[in-house]
Amino acid sequence: MLTRSLPGGTWTLGDLTVTRFGYGAMQLAGPWVMGPPADPDGALAVLREVVALGITHIDTSDAYGPHVTNRLIRAALHPYPEGLRLVTKVGATRDRQGGWPPAREPAQLRRAVHENLENLGVGVLDLVNLRLGDAEGPRPGSLAEPFGALVTLQRQGLIRHLGVSNVTAEQVAEAQSIAPVVCVQNRYNLAYRRDDALIDRLAGQGVAYVPYFPLGGFSPLQSAALSAVAARRDATPMSVALAWLLQRSPNILLIPGTSSVAHLRENVAGAGLTLSADDLTALDEIGR
Ligand SMILES: NC(=O)c1ccc[n+]([C@@H]2O[C@H](COP(=O)([O-])OP(=O)(O)OC[C@H]3O[C@@H](n4cnc5c(N)ncnc54)[C@H](OP(=O)(O)O)[C@@H]3O)[C@@H](O)[C@H]2O)c1
Repeated sequence: MLTRSLPGGTWTLGDLTVTRFGYGAMQLAGPWVMGPPADPDGALAVLREVVALGITHIDTSDAYGPHVTNRLIRAALHPYPEGLRLVTKVGATRDRQGGWPPAREPAQLRRAVHENLENLGVGVLDLVNLRLGDAEGPRPGSLAEPFGALVTLQRQGLIRHLGVSNVTAEQVAEAQSIAPVVCVQNRYNLAYRRDDALIDRLAGQGVAYVPYFPLGGFSPLQSAALSAVAARRDATPMSVALAWLLQRSPNILLIPGTSSVAHLRENVAGAGLTLSADDLTALDEIGR
């Protein structure tokens, strides 16, 4: 697969090399990440374009749909091209109202890992993130029991690498005291910078930081400073937001979501923008 032409180059998660420009598959399910997409063929086309562009990192979860996104990935891309890495997460399920209740008991995690294996059609999962907290963000508390349950599944050969998601810095440290952690996936973008110190610490340790909602998620990033930099650079705000993340730290991996082939191409093309010192100063004001 192509990797060199993508903005940001590559990063190695454990022993798995991925393009820093990845793809977040959550938006492929139906409205509010429930049920099938309105345009299933369009969703399959986006996934095929992801691979055609040389992206080797797809972020997913069986909670999306539920099960919808993983099955779309399998339908579009199985048998998977060599080098494509599918990163999933466990720790939450879905209720009838579209909520995300926790599912962190060891038996629930074991079941979730087996469901991911089946829905993705693989014998081993490349990387599993333990997702904690809730929709409002991380919640303090020990992760020893659920993380230990995933370590057991890893030792059984069902998982290559482990990560944590929606966590505090203390929970990251606790997980690292139990087993190697190759990535942390938390909410972060130009306007939401609670993890600045954590990102720098992880960079020093060679651990990836994967911001979710890199473009603002369900509420697209909007700011006068962002619009001004975008206008000055003749770029879209989305391109500037993604380029900023790539320049923010070498351990940041992008997983922007889109259900549109055109947006996907636009984002890949735009993320390669080199922001100047003046641009960075102006953009820094947004998150302060
Ligand atoms: N660990 C967790 O708890 C957690 C939580 C949330 C998300 N995630 C992961 O993070 C990934 C990224 O999050 P996200 O997809 O929710 O948010 P996002 O990447 O911040 O933003 C996605 C939104 O931006 C729009 N968009 C993308 N490119 C665009 C463009 N060029 N022009 C205009 N609009 C554009 C998309 O609409 P279109 O479809 O119209 O392009 C979509 O509505 C998810 O896919 C998921 O894998 C993880």
